[in-house]
Formats: sequence, C-alpha cells, structure tokens
Amino acid sequence: MTGTASERNDYDLFGEAYVADPAQSWARFRDECPVAHSTEYGGSWMPVRYDDVTAAARDVETFVSSKGVSVLKIANASDSEVVSAGGPPIGVDPPMHTWTRRLLLAGMSPKSVQSYEVGTRELCQRLVAKIVDRGHGDAAVDYAQRLPVRVIGALLGVPEQDSDRFVTWVRQILEFAHNVDGRKKAIGELNDYMRVQVADRRLNPGDDILSHLVTVEVEGEPVPEDVILGEAALLLVAGVDTTWSAIGSSLYHLASHPEDRRRLVAEPELLDAFIEEVLRFYSPVTMGRTAATDTEFGGCPIAEGDRVLMNFPAANRDPDHFEDSDTFIIDRGRNRHLAFGVGIHRCAGSNLARMEMRVALEEWLIAIPEFELADPSAVTWAGGQVRGPRSVPVTF
Ligand code: HEM
Repeated sequence: MTGTASERNDYDLFGEAYVADPAQSWARFRDECPVAHSTEYGGSWMPVRYDDVTAAARDVETFVSSKGVSVLKIANASDSEVVSAGGPPIGVDPPMHTWTRRLLLAGMSPKSVQSYEVGTRELCQRLVAKIVDRGHGDAAVDYAQRLPVRVIGALLGVPEQDSDRFVTWVRQILEFAHNVDGRKKAIGELNDYMRVQVADRRLNPGDDILSHLVTVEVEGEPVPEDVILGEAALLLVAGVDTTWSAIGSSLYHLASHPEDRRRLVAEPELLDAFIEEVLRFYSPVTMGRTAATDTEFGGCPIAEGDRVLMNFPAANRDPDHFEDSDTFIIDRGRNRHLAFGVGIHRCAGSNLARMEMRVALEEWLIAIPEFELADPSAVTWAGGQVRGPRSVPVTF
C-alpha cells in the first residue's frame, strides 16, 4: 500500500463525483493503494482488486456480516437496528446463515423462477404499452423502477397497490441511507407492515413465500417470528433496487450506444451475453462487512469493528481479470463477474434477477426497438450501496 492516509481518505460512495464515475477512483486506488480508506460515515476500508475482494468476501470468520452490512457505520445504532437493516441471511454468519439461507432458496430455484415468468412478461407488456401510447417516457421511472417491486410483491403475496410504499421504503433504506432518521423510520414501517402480513398468512396461508415461511419447520421447530420478518424485509430490500438498477442501466446503455442497440435487435441471441456484460460493467451492489478481530489486509492494519466494503463493482473492472475492463463489449466471451457477490452470501436471487432482466429487455425491444436519450444531461444516478440510473428520459 502506498500513499498517505489523507491521500487515501477520499472516497464517498454517496458523493457526486464518485456516483458519476466510480471507475476513475477504482483505477487510481488499484494503482496507488489497492485497499483504500475513508473516514466518511463512520470510516471504512475498501479493497478494489478482484482477488482482494474475493479473498475478503470468502473470509467470513474475519469479516463478518452480523455486525452490520451497511456501507454506513451508524454511531450508536442499537444491535436490533443493525440487524433489522440486514435481516437473515444477509446480516448473519454461520451457523445461522446456513439454515436461514436455505429457507429462501426453495423459492428462488430455476423452476420456481420460471413460474414467475408469465406474470413478469404481462407486467412488462402492460408498462411498455403505456409508454408507447404516450409517445415518450422515462426508462427508469416508468419501467425499470416499476418492475422488480411488483415481481417481489407477487412472490410475497402482497397487494400490487402497495408497490409505491415499498419503493419509498427501499429508497430510504438504501439510496438515502445517510439520512439516519429517515432510514430508521422506513425500517420500522417496513417491519410493521410485514408483521401484519405474516399474521395474515398464519390465518390464511397461500402459496407465496411468506406462507412457506410461516408453515415450514426447521429441525421440527417453527421458524421464529423475527427470522420470518427479517427474511421478508430482506427480499424487498435486496430484490427491488438492485434489479431496477440493472434494468435501468441496460436501457441507459442501449439508449446511449446505438451500435449496441442495433446489434442486439438484429442478433437477439446476444441477449444473455449483453445481460452479463451489463452486470459486470454497471454492477450495482457494494456490501459491507465488519472486522471481527484486529487483522491486516493488503498491508493495511484493520481494527476490530472496522467496516470493510466488498466493492464487487470495482472488482469487475480489474484489468488483471477482464480484458479491456473499462470497455463495454456486448459479446464478451468469458465473463466471470462478481456482480452477485462471491462466497456464502452470494446472491440468492440471481436466477430471478436474470429472468427479470431478460424479460424486461425482450419486451422493451419488441415494443421500442429504436430509442435514444431525450437529453443526456437529464440522466441521474443514485449512489451508495446500490448504484443505478434513477431517471433516463428517452424518445423514440
Ligand atoms: C441484478 C440484481 C441483483 C444484484 C446485482 C444482486 C447482488 C447481490 C450481492 C452482491 C449479494 C451479496 C451480498 C454480500 O456479499 O453480502 C446479494 C445477496 C443477496 N441477494 Fe441479491 N442481487 C440482485 C437481485 C436480487 C433479487 C431479485 C433477490 C431476491 C428477491 C435477491 C436476494 C438476495 C439475498 C436474499 C441475498 C443474501 C444472500 C445471503 O446472504 O446468503 N437479490 N445480492
């Protein structure tokens, strides 16, 4: 590691410059101090090389999830606040991680995901038809933002009309996380909402994930209420903003790169490779860990309690692992990106996310094969733990 502390002290995941072009910072850190440090938001360390991020994410004994996974280390947060912001399995360590993760995986298998595809397609068709009728639209606000929240809502068996409330809570928890009071309020409201839903499923079980959680047994015992509430809240927090960002980035890319858009329309068999390249190039998710003990990583002295960020997006731009890593290559061959993380916490919803991206893009491109940015300066991005476009006005 080179550079003085003050030279390294210069990333802010919510900062305007970082949100606009994080790759520039990663390239500099990779050369100067592969484990960067910042004092923002309670302080954190940030490895940016693929091998370092992989090693840190796999070392679940040193870098734990149970002491907070937010990019922000909130001073004086009580344990319950920290845990409820990152319910199981994302916010817990083995052995609890193992069984709480297994509870969710059943609803996320390729077969289960296939059963959600028809509903997702109808939803996409409905949303894109409205944009076509209007003759213009915002690919993020009118389309990407509206999809995953409704898909997750259907999985949980909650009414579609609650979608806007979910979006508000998810944004307060992730995008506006540095507003600590707003975040706490959103977490409280989300938990209260889920408590009512869980009580309802106990009386009227259906075939949704909440009903599964209230009826299933683990080693002969029912699943504790706080685990059910944590898993339900996590599905919403983990499944909405992430996928909405990835769909929004896909459409942003196609609107701003006409040669890729034309090629994808002409060669639809490239869609899977395109999706993987979007996930690599525009990776949305950075997750936090907490050092369980004093340690050293990449030559840096990390103290017990320090926050360490798993910057999967930075790893995905490492030139030692990806040729022309800062170039978007629509038909990139080998693409072992870390957009879904690595190790025991690897995304439980990756099958669902890929299906949503594929169906969203198929339906958009059928309805609107020709489109471009209405005004490139009107595009806005959200930063923090999940980076993605929030407004992408397009004309066609
Ligand atoms: C493109 C969309 C998505 C991306 C990029 C993404 C990314 C990630 C990443 C990087 C992690 C690892 C976190 C860590 O290491 O601490 C993760 C975990 C997780 N994701 Fe996703 N995710 C996406 C969509 C979804 C969806 C749709 C769901 C389900 C509804 C979901 C559910 C989860 C869950 C439950 C975990 C925790 C797994 C565990 O701790 O064992 N994600 N996701």
